[in-house]
Amino acid sequence: MGVDTTDRPFDRFGGHEFFAQLVADFYAGVAGDDVLRPMYPEADLAPAAERLRLFLEQYWGGPTTYSEQRGHPRLRMRHAPYEVDPQARDRWLLHMRAALDARELPPELDAQMWNYLYNAAYAMVNTGFLEAPR
Ligand code: HEM
Repeated sequence: MGVDTTDRPFDRFGGHEFFAQLVADFYAGVAGDDVLRPMYPEADLAPAAERLRLFLEQYWGGPTTYSEQRGHPRLRMRHAPYEVDPQARDRWLLHMRAALDARELPPELDAQMWNYLYNAAYAMVNTGFLEAPR
């Protein structure tokens, strides 16, 4: 009885340990990035890392702690205070790609995760689009 937790993508990726390591490696990249680091309001990146981990765990069918603590994700809205331009997006994806490479997932799982992250990062851009010359 209880909630059926079999065959969740969360578990196929490797459960909590996978997401914890992915996010830890990603934030190590952010910490040394001259474009991304200044965008984070807090001196300590650990709380931001935990929010990203909880969100990703929930998105892939794991524990719903993110929404219990933060409410509905509404990620575009939550990024509105930050100037996410194409350069920031590409830096974000660069660190995420390195963090994902280090996990050495089977190719199909890697592609599934990367597709999601890539599209999500493109969707988060809220400024700096190319404009026609005036
Ligand atoms: C495209 C480039 C991106 C940049 C530059 C960026 C930057 C930021 C910044 C500065 C914050 C505030 C730090 C904090 O939590 O206090 C944040 C929060 C967050 N970001 Fe991003 N982000 C990007 C893409 C993404 C993507 C693609 C996802 C999800 C797949 C994501 C998920 C989150 C989450 C879950 C939070 C915490 C929201 C909350 O509960 O307050 N971000 N991001």
